[in-house]
Amino acid sequence: MARLIGGVGSSHVPAIGNAIEQGLISDPYWAPFFDGYKPVWNWMEEKKPDVAILVYNDHGLNFFLDTMPTFAIGAAAEYQNADEGWGLKPLDPFQGDPEFSWHIIDSLIHDEFDITMCQEMLVDHGFTVPMSLMWPKQEQRDQVKVIPLCVNVVQYPFPTARRCLKLGEAIGKAVASYDKDLDVVILGTGGLSHQLDGERAGHTNREFDTEFLEKLKDEPEWLLKYSNYELAEIVGPQGVEMIMWLIMRGALGDNIRELSRNYHIPISNTAAGVILFENEAV
Ligand code: DHB
Ligand code: FE
Repeated sequence: MARLIGGVGSSHVPAIGNAIEQGLISDPYWAPFFDGYKPVWNWMEEKKPDVAILVYNDHGLNFFLDTMPTFAIGAAAEYQNADEGWGLKPLDPFQGDPEFSWHIIDSLIHDEFDITMCQEMLVDHGFTVPMSLMWPKQEQRDQVKVIPLCVNVVQYPFPTARRCLKLGEAIGKAVASYDKDLDVVILGTGGLSHQLDGERAGHTNREFDTEFLEKLKDEPEWLLKYSNYELAEIVGPQGVEMIMWLIMRGALGDNIRELSRNYHIPISNTAAGVILFENEAV
C-alpha cells in the first residue's frame, strides 16, 4: 500500500529559484531563509520519498482567466517547465506517475471531488520553486515522481479553506487505497502573507502568519473562520495562497508530529514560511 510519510508547507517566491541557481544559499540575505530548509533536506535525504503530490497554484501559464478550474490534477508522464517571466531558467522536465494520478482521480471523483484532469500541463514557478527547494539538485529531483495538484487562488471565487481541508482528507484516503508500495510526501505551497500590487504592495502580516503556523498541526480549522475576502485583507490578495497548505494538512490526518518550522520576512515581497510534518503512523 502507498504510505503518506509526511508533508511540507513552503512558499514559492520566484527569486528563490534564482538564488538556488546562483549558489546564494549561504549569502547573508538568503541564509536565514535557506537555514529553515536544512531539516527538510535532511528528512528528504533520509526518507527518500518515491512520489510527491505538489499542491500549488498556476499564475496564468497553463490556465488563464478565460478557463480556470477550481482544482486540477496532472495525469501526464512528464511536466514541462515554461518560464513565465521571472528570469527563472527553465528546469528539466519533471517525471509524473500517470497510473497513480489516475488512481487519485478515480478515488477523488468517487469521493465527490469533481476534479479537472489534465493529461498535459505546463508548470510555472508555483511548482518549480517548491521542487527546487525540496530537492535543490537535478539528480535529487530525478529520484522523485511528482503529481501536480493545481488550485485556483487567482480568479475569484476561490475554493474555501474548508473545501481545501476536505480535499486534503480525500487525497489522504486516495493515497492509502493505492495498491503499490510507495512512500509519498505531500507539499502544500504558496503564501504566506504578501501583496504584489496596488497601493498596499509589500504588505505582510507576521502576527497572523505566526498564528497560522502555530495552529496548523493541532487546529487547522482555525483558518476556516476567515472568508477568502477577509483573508485578502488580512494577509494580502496573494497571501490567500496559504489555503493550499490546508490541503497538505488535511491529507496527513491527525497522527503527525511537527519536525521543524521557519519564518522569515521578507523574501522579495513575501513573508516566507516552511513547516515539516511527519506521519507518526508509518
Ligand atoms: C512573489 C511572490 C509570489 O507568490 C509570486 O507568485 C510571485 C512573486 C514575490 O514576492 O516576489
Ligand atoms: Fe504566487
